[in-house]
Amino acid sequence: MLNYVHSIPTKLFFGKGQISHLSDALNTFGKKVLLTYGGGSIKKSGLYDEVKKILDEGGFAVTELSGIEPNPRIESVEKGVALCKENQIDVILAVGGGSTIDCSKAIAAGVYYEGDDLWQMVREADHIRKALPLVDILTLSATGSEFDPSAVISNLKTNEKLGGTFTYPAFSICDPTYTFTVSAYQTAAGSADIMSHIFEGYFSRTPDSDLSDGIAETILKSVIKNLPAALNNPDDYEARANLMANSSVACSGIPEYGKASTGWPCHTMEHELSAYYDITHGVGLAILTPRWMRFILKKDPSCSWRFVRFAKNVWGLQGGDDAALAEAGIAALEAFFRSAGLPGNLTELGITDEYFRAMAEHANVDNFLADAFVPLTNDDIVEIYKACL
Ligand code: NZQ
Ligand code: ZN
Repeated sequence: MLNYVHSIPTKLFFGKGQISHLSDALNTFGKKVLLTYGGGSIKKSGLYDEVKKILDEGGFAVTELSGIEPNPRIESVEKGVALCKENQIDVILAVGGGSTIDCSKAIAAGVYYEGDDLWQMVREADHIRKALPLVDILTLSATGSEFDPSAVISNLKTNEKLGGTFTYPAFSICDPTYTFTVSAYQTAAGSADIMSHIFEGYFSRTPDSDLSDGIAETILKSVIKNLPAALNNPDDYEARANLMANSSVACSGIPEYGKASTGWPCHTMEHELSAYYDITHGVGLAILTPRWMRFILKKDPSCSWRFVRFAKNVWGLQGGDDAALAEAGIAALEAFFRSAGLPGNLTELGITDEYFRAMAEHANVDNFLADAFVPLTNDDIVEIYKACL
């Protein structure tokens, strides 16, 4: 088990009715609020009205930034920074999924960025030291942005989608009832994302991290149990609550305690797909993951012990033949994604091999994936993409 250091400064309020803490949370920072949200789901669900009522009653001065895109764009970050400066905003309130929260993190940091080019800030995000305070109300269980410092921003002009460390939310309000309205497609995609956040650390060469492995397997089993329940009955509070709690912990760094870093290969490859084709992050992951698993098993069979453990501990599979068991675990995952209604290949999304080489080169810049569970070369990545067609 390797050394680790961890600090999560976010105060997270989980459960029904936790919006009652919103006013106090915002008052910690001031009265001038930038309210950010996406394409309108919060207006349809009634959450916008609920939030506005609290803000009005609390005497907050509210400026709004709406229309934040899934795979949020740099242009939205630019708009938000300009609004913060014009209105001398004290605190940002993000209401939405990972895209709205991520965009708001970049806005919070962008306010203090000294250069003119905010895309350059995104490129250098790991050097960010100062940001406006951020409060969020989460509406989709997926990314873990409510409990981590990361944000992922897209630039359609350069076909880039870059992640970095921007700022932690100061307060996150996570009420599972706000996810009742999430579509089946986004519920499934979000769950694939939660599972992938676990896989990225679980498939590591560090063999003796019992705590991390136990948490990882528990979260995977919980998603396997609760995703079908949420799809079957979107208002199932227990299912939505478990998915939401899983979302926050899966990407928090806790399931990687004591483990060697892996470069998060599926995320690195997926961000290229959504950079070029603007696809839903979790959908790209659901397509890539089983292909990546099969590829690395073939490339380096010495990693099969980990897949055997996955098959046994997560899927409850048994059998004497390790190779068959490893494949059965992967097949079970693939079938699970399909049964949740997720697309099975990139061709279904209209993607061809046209940019695979460029995407692989960008994903693996500076041999980024040389430290992966099984190191990947550019040729390997192209092969994995091709297996997804
Ligand atoms: O925009 P609105 O109208 O709100 O609709 C959204 C959007 O169309 C909708 N939605 C959200 N909550 C809803 C709802 N619809 C009905 N009812 C609700 N309660 O769902 C759609 C997708 O929303 P989005 O925020 O894009 O989804 P998600 O939370 O999956 O975020 C994806 C983004 O986060 C990045 C991804 O790459 C992608 O850009 N990630 C961020 C991470 C982080 N910050 O740590 C890590 C992840 O690995 C990921 O890369
Ligand atoms: Zn993810």
